[in-house]
Amino acid sequence: MKFFVDTAEIDDIAELNALGMVDGVTTNPSLIMKSGRDILEVTREICALIDGPVSAEVVALNAEDMIAEGRKLAQIADNIAVKVPLTWDGLKTCKTLTAEGIMVNVTLCFSANQALLAAKAGATFISPFVGRLDDINVDGMELIAEIRQIYDNYGFDTQILVASIRSVEHVTQSALIGADVATIPPAVIRKLAGHVLTDKGLEGFMKDWAKTGQKIL
Ligand code: G3P
Repeated sequence: MKFFVDTAEIDDIAELNALGMVDGVTTNPSLIMKSGRDILEVTREICALIDGPVSAEVVALNAEDMIAEGRKLAQIADNIAVKVPLTWDGLKTCKTLTAEGIMVNVTLCFSANQALLAAKAGATFISPFVGRLDDINVDGMELIAEIRQIYDNYGFDTQILVASIRSVEHVTQSALIGADVATIPPAVIRKLAGHVLTDKGLEGFMKDWAKTGQKIL
């Protein structure tokens, strides 16, 4: 499973990338707002840092303007994936931009039928939001399993990009189900390394080591 980082914070992306943890990056209008940066400027910097796909989201609501925004974003770099919302206009934009050879990430997906439409419109990525489904007491991971089955049933190439990941369990479950990509906030990626028994074990080793009175360096 590929790891995308769900952030527009350059420092986080650079640190995780140096560890080989970054296969791509996703941003959205809220993450751009949080970064306090200009969208074109920060997206250009991210694209220069990362070889994989970097999602940048359109903000127009009608297809004509979405397509124009998408074309402008795609000019930033070859690895841009234009992110469009899962609306009728977003699907039209997806169809047009993919025909032009531009990667498209269809976002704000909350149902299997929406995911089916995105695949038929040629989406490179579909972004189902698991955390926001959990927020309304619907099991977000069940949606991922449904989409996996539907895409496999018909051989759709669209990659399942699990979004709105809030916990390490979301990451494990995404990998078990066979999602293609998980886009993960930096803090959750760091949490993946943690385990209470690792901490406990290390504490024990350090106590015993102190008793030996030895040094390695
Ligand atoms: O990739 C979409 C993601 O950023 C949304 O996450 O936590 O705002 O639902 P969240």
